[in-house]
Amino acid sequence: MSAIATTTPAAPISISAAQARSSDLEELISADPGQFRILTGDRPTGRLHLGHYFGTLHNRVRLQDLGVETYVLIADYQVLTDRDVADNLTEYVEELVLDYLAIGIDPARSTIFTHSAVPALNQLMLPFLSLVSIAELERNPTVKDEIAHSRQAAVSGLMYTYPVHQAADILFCKANLVPVGRDQLPHVELTRTVARRFNERYGVVFPRPDVLLSNAPLLLGTDGTKMSKSRGNAIALAADADETARLIKGATTDVERHITYDPVARPQVASLLLLAALCQDRAPEAVAEEIGSAGAAALKRTVTDAVNSYLAPIRARRAEYAEDRGYLRQILRAGNERANAVADATLVEVRQAMDALY
Ligand code: TRP
Repeated sequence: MSAIATTTPAAPISISAAQARSSDLEELISADPGQFRILTGDRPTGRLHLGHYFGTLHNRVRLQDLGVETYVLIADYQVLTDRDVADNLTEYVEELVLDYLAIGIDPARSTIFTHSAVPALNQLMLPFLSLVSIAELERNPTVKDEIAHSRQAAVSGLMYTYPVHQAADILFCKANLVPVGRDQLPHVELTRTVARRFNERYGVVFPRPDVLLSNAPLLLGTDGTKMSKSRGNAIALAADADETARLIKGATTDVERHITYDPVARPQVASLLLLAALCQDRAPEAVAEEIGSAGAAALKRTVTDAVNSYLAPIRARRAEYAEDRGYLRQILRAGNERANAVADATLVEVRQAMDALY
């Protein structure tokens, strides 16, 4: 049998190609949502924020509501990629479930699960690891970036191999659509490579999943850099109205008083305008025009009001669900049970294809 990397090299997908493909996919989804199965997920490292929400969460709910079968993964093992211990896991997993329920993920239609609770999913990683070369793992730009920002003294084996684990996350349920942000493109490309190589070597078992990029532009955090939990510049969905006001009040702007929407020359002001615009479902230029020469303080008041009104019903639902931890547990148990049934069936197929079912 020939060496893995040379026969079928992995070609990186460019962002523009992924965007073009995503708009074709949107048409196919509207025409026939039943053809698609989605898997996407998050690491349980704290509360989700507005960057996640407008980047991908909102899109997930939309797709679920269109009738696409949806699996939502809480990637608890992945937390260990860049830290030595996964702290507060139970709490963070519950926070994620709460965020999901609050934004409208419906556990009757969508399967919410944690991958550590699905042994057959994890077992897929073993044959998958045999299908990728070390050089390919070392080239992954997202992994390289994570290593550069890692808080660990030494880079673990899991750091290099987690994209292969992610392939198992996606392929265990034969998902064919993965709605994620751009940083996840290399991982989905690797998943496609793993699926293709498995199918070539052992017979067709897996689909080759597509990325679905959301067209929402990137939101900046309150310090003008990418919104991120670890940078302390994020507005959590679960934050209360006062905390939201305080965070937005402290946001970086610029010295020019007249407010205009200019993402290139005035990125911080533009990001605030965009946030208000997304919450009010209108164009950022319209928000800018309304504020005009009233300045940054008026802009921040507008953004605060827009965010707090938009999130009010989400926050109210979240608070209600937070009262009933037993219900959260029940949702996870049911989701894990469903995911296990699907993973067990796929593993049998995989072992059959590999002639390893004794
Ligand atoms: N890597 C993703 C993140 O950091 C989380 C994740 C794990 C994921 N497995 C996945 C996303 C599978 C999509 C599909 O946000």
